[in-house]
Amino acid sequence: MEQEYDRFSREMDARAVRDAIGEGKKYHIVVYGCQMNVRDGETAAGLLEEMGFSRAESREDADLVLFETCCVRENAENRALGNVIWLKELKRDKPDLLIAVGGCMMQEPGMAERIRKMYPFVDIVFGTHNLYRLRHLVREAVEGRRGIEILGEGGLQEGLPAVRQSSFSAFVNIMYGCNNFCSYCIVPYVRGRERSRAQEDILEEARRLRDSGVQEITLLGQNVNSYQGGGAAFAELLRRLDEMGIPRIRFMTSHPKDLSDELIAAFGSLKHLCGHLHLPVQSGSDRILREMNRHYTREKYLSLVERLRAVRPDIGLTTDIIVGFPGETEEEFRETLSLCREVRYDAAFTFIYSPRQGTRAASMPDDTPAAEKTRRIEELIALQHEHTASALASQVGRVERVLVEGVSERSSETVMGKTSRFLAVNFPGKADLVGSFVDVRITGAGRNTLRGERV
Ligand code: SAH
Ligand code: SF4
Ligand code: F3S
Repeated sequence: MEQEYDRFSREMDARAVRDAIGEGKKYHIVVYGCQMNVRDGETAAGLLEEMGFSRAESREDADLVLFETCCVRENAENRALGNVIWLKELKRDKPDLLIAVGGCMMQEPGMAERIRKMYPFVDIVFGTHNLYRLRHLVREAVEGRRGIEILGEGGLQEGLPAVRQSSFSAFVNIMYGCNNFCSYCIVPYVRGRERSRAQEDILEEARRLRDSGVQEITLLGQNVNSYQGGGAAFAELLRRLDEMGIPRIRFMTSHPKDLSDELIAAFGSLKHLCGHLHLPVQSGSDRILREMNRHYTREKYLSLVERLRAVRPDIGLTTDIIVGFPGETEEEFRETLSLCREVRYDAAFTFIYSPRQGTRAASMPDDTPAAEKTRRIEELIALQHEHTASALASQVGRVERVLVEGVSERSSETVMGKTSRFLAVNFPGKADLVGSFVDVRITGAGRNTLRGERV
């Protein structure tokens, strides 16, 4: 498919759509899920603009609405489907509206077929492996056919256009897919096997971003640190990006089992690598970690944390935690709490385990009542609030360099930005500061953010 859909066919499709839709047609993209989907949404926007669409602020103003769906947990899926059904109403008033649904959920077995049958108002369906075919599918739809296509496996697509959400902070994909098959997780099934982009392609993209004024890049992958087969290759890529002089480099998400010595050392030696690492632990119990197929122990994880802090004492750590994995006992849950007390994360994303069809954990016996799982997650969240508060309080009095991201929703006289450690700071300032670095003295801490003043 890849070879067949060459540059020429792509251009023919884009031209056919441009001719068919005429002037002034608009698109609106709604993204669910993780940064991967955000980045895919940027590519979709680039492809749509090549076809002659321009961006609409809201779905109501759009002639084409595209949903990038997520299926990592059941509620993500319900939310996406609920919203698609809502679009049916919109289409009643606006029969020419094109509705496109793409992303991870469409890769689930039987899902595209279900949409074809049960949601006849959906015009375009694609998955994670054929986003690059969007021009072809939109052409089908504007010519009156339904553009429904799902591919089983994807390769690597270079040279696709993108409309980035920010002019100063950019996501750069370095690898796609995941080979880990954590027993609870659907991602490997819907994103396919790991494949890394060539180092030269990544460096070239980063160079172009730097030259266009980007101040921060975040390298993306389901498992960034297994880039090209190991932490050493990833550390090498980071080193080359560091030499390029982009002020800030971040990456996510890292798997603890692939956190190599070279990568830990990079946190001590690279000038532009930010002092933050998102390192999902999932559980503090060795038995649960084994059942989850995570390939590390609690002790191994804690030793990584210790070594990271040895090379970079002020590094901020954040994590993902699943509560109520099948068979998790109260005692095992307490081990997660005690691990959190040892690490003291700046922030934690906490989830109640959600069974995903086709994964190994979905067939494991699970007799913990839902109410009990809710109690556990509430206890975990309360503990995390304490740790977040103390992390924020520890910053008061420091002067931090902040990259300003935007104007506060509450006041046009307040701006918000992030420190290297990924902590949010609000301080007096106006829109002209957005996209620039400002040195800020931290004067106070709220529940989730810091307050400060320019120095
Ligand atoms: N590749 C990343 C992110 C995966 S999805 C990683 O490995 O960390 C983001 C988070 O969702 C996971 O870290 C996990 O905590 C959570 N998650 C994944 N599947 C889940 C499930 N079935 N139920 C509850 N949480 C889940
Ligand atoms: Fe899912 Fe595990 Fe892969 Fe992350 S590493 S995407 S949790 S299978
Ligand atoms: Fe969701 Fe797909 Fe990301 S399932 S979490 S959008 S990789």
